[in-house]
Amino acid sequence: MIKKVTPTASLKGILSPPPDKSISQRAAIFSLLHEGTSIINNYSPAQDPQSTLDCVEALGAEITRTSDSISIKGTGRSGIVAPKDDLDCGNSGTAMRLLAGVIVGSGKQVRMCGDSSLTSRTMTRIIEPLEKMGAYILARNSAYAPLMITRDEKLKPMDFELPIPSAQLKSCILLAGLFGEESTRVMETIPSRDHTERLLQLKVEEKDGKKIISSSLKDEIPNQSYTVPGDFSAASFWLVAGCIIPNSEIRLEATGLNPTRNALLGILQEMGANITIENERMEGAESVGDIIVQSSNLRAINIPKNKIPNCIDELPILAVAMTFAEGISVISGAEELRHKETDRIMAISEMLKAVDASFEEKEDGLEIYGNPEFKFDSATFKSFHDHRIAMASAVLSLKGKSESNILDAECAAVSYPNFWEDLEGISSYE
Ligand code: S3P
Repeated sequence: MIKKVTPTASLKGILSPPPDKSISQRAAIFSLLHEGTSIINNYSPAQDPQSTLDCVEALGAEITRTSDSISIKGTGRSGIVAPKDDLDCGNSGTAMRLLAGVIVGSGKQVRMCGDSSLTSRTMTRIIEPLEKMGAYILARNSAYAPLMITRDEKLKPMDFELPIPSAQLKSCILLAGLFGEESTRVMETIPSRDHTERLLQLKVEEKDGKKIISSSLKDEIPNQSYTVPGDFSAASFWLVAGCIIPNSEIRLEATGLNPTRNALLGILQEMGANITIENERMEGAESVGDIIVQSSNLRAINIPKNKIPNCIDELPILAVAMTFAEGISVISGAEELRHKETDRIMAISEMLKAVDASFEEKEDGLEIYGNPEFKFDSATFKSFHDHRIAMASAVLSLKGKSESNILDAECAAVSYPNFWEDLEGISSYE
């Protein structure tokens, strides 16, 4: 699908971002592990969380969908069944990496597959530690899905120091650890999103500047009945759009504010953004609030390596903000971006090239020469079938002089099925 985006004079309105993708997927997986029924409100209708739900069902959970909630009767750790067919994770790295941990823990033999993007993303980071825990994993070219997972030996709990700050890797190992008689401990130096340890109420300690998270069979799996907050990563497109489009004010209701996810808030505020938070409150284990953004004059900023994991998914839209910020902005230490749904450093570069913006691509990031007066006529953007690139390109299109095209724009539905309707709803073309 080619989406045409018309430049807008202002953005005004109230939006509820879609339910958080990361939390929805965890809610489904942890409900499978819980012995009993969890009722999840506001479960995400987006493609990735729906793939996870299908996988959880195939592993034995009983799922009932009503108009406003999902009920999941879990199997508990001992009741997981081997699915008849391949476990299809679609486009979702979170589904594949987290469920691989569960499968290794369960000791079942399962073949996991995914779409062409997912099967070209390396799984080595989970294969090596899971094999140390006793799994045997047959992967295409030793690194890529489809993955055939078995475990004949007894599960070996382990101490694991995260070689990269990845919440998917951390969660994978902790989930396998939940099936071990002794504790598995994961050590984290640079914090990554902490939904897994929060929602599972795992033991967390701090030692020598490291966070140590433990899991074992002794941990009870809590019931997962809660309301999923709005997705901060989805809200980030409107946060940047609200800043760079004149005469704008957007209110983003019930948006997740987990401090390991919302680094973009502080970054934009440091850049000079007019952003305020109202009604901050807890929703289960997660904090949520309403975010109000108004048009702003942005200044350049440097994003160092240690901030990257807490804004990793927001970097494509941050690059758009940097294009309109006064001065030279730098994103460094972000090589992980090359291993997302597509090589996002390359994809951001292609997006900026399409409008002839001034920037330099680096191996581990970008240097962007921003200008608040930057203008372009119109462009055709490739999404590379990556939802976040499609949505960032749409926000950039709003700043053109005439209509731009986004190719393969349907991929926005991977995390944000109503993105195009919401964009239309808050735009006003005078
Ligand atoms: C996710 C973790 C991040 C993020 C992804 C979702 C998660 O990936 O980019 O969109 O739900 O745990 P990494 O853990 O690989 O950095």
